[in-house]
Amino acid sequence: MCSLQISWLSIILCYMYVECVNHMLATAKRMVHQKCRSQLYPFGNIKRILLSDDEVPWNVNISYDPPEYESPVLKNKAWADPYIEDAKFTPKFNSLDGNINRKSYMGNYLINNGRPLNPEGRTGLKGRGILGKWGPNHAADPIVTRWKIIEGKKQTHPISKLPILEFCGIQRRDCNQWAIPGGMVDPGENVSETLKREFLEEAFNSLEANQGEMEKNEKLICEFFKHGCEIYRGYVDDPRNTDNAWMETIAMNFHDDSGKLVGKFNLKAGDDAKNVQWISIDKNLDLYASHCSFIEKVAHLHNAHW
Ligand code: BGC
Repeated sequence: MCSLQISWLSIILCYMYVECVNHMLATAKRMVHQKCRSQLYPFGNIKRILLSDDEVPWNVNISYDPPEYESPVLKNKAWADPYIEDAKFTPKFNSLDGNINRKSYMGNYLINNGRPLNPEGRTGLKGRGILGKWGPNHAADPIVTRWKIIEGKKQTHPISKLPILEFCGIQRRDCNQWAIPGGMVDPGENVSETLKREFLEEAFNSLEANQGEMEKNEKLICEFFKHGCEIYRGYVDDPRNTDNAWMETIAMNFHDDSGKLVGKFNLKAGDDAKNVQWISIDKNLDLYASHCSFIEKVAHLHNAHW
């Protein structure tokens, strides 16, 4: 009787374990490459072909003829590649091409008919959409955090009992969504420079600050950004991605444990940001692209509420 009970128990436990692993695998699969498959492309009123998860990998044979889109905004922009048909345009994909980094953090990507292929598979749209570069478009995301403190007391969450972290978030001008104040790495720019520059531009409005203010903020940020922790490096599930152009980023956390460094400064939105504020970190956040998954990693890193 007892051994019968034990074997039933082991069957149930085993079943629960398999269910749990399946759930984890399904969640992990869902985390990548979803937002860039939502039907309406965020610019140009273009509809992507809808694909099932199974149809995404390039090595799965399907009949596939997606629409093509290239935003007219890209024409003659210094930050954008020329048209791919331009005979003078001879990009060196998968390498450092002059001062443009065409390497992917995901390894070597495939080239088909002279066009780079998205390393995460099909997106239902070809061309480069609104993105300036064919292939990888590199960004950098500074995640600046401090503890939530009210009247000198560190706040804890009533359910998890863990302290609450806040991050400096911006509201993007292009889509109104809240996001990390990141931005594109300029040609030849070092990622650590991009992290500082974007934070100063978007959260301290450095582009419109007076000389004295700018110098003070720059000094503070330079010192504070000396100690960061890398959170993520790779492909981003960005709604602007297409079959031939996609976003990649390096996300770094800079934590102000005492709240006395950047934590106490008045934030001021600037450049691509229309609003800026300290946002309490919680799993119900709805942020741009893959930003929620970066923020979750930061919460776990500091053993904070999620
Ligand atoms: C944003 C970054 C973001 C990247 C990829 C850039 O435009 O500024 O914050 O991580 O796109 O989505």
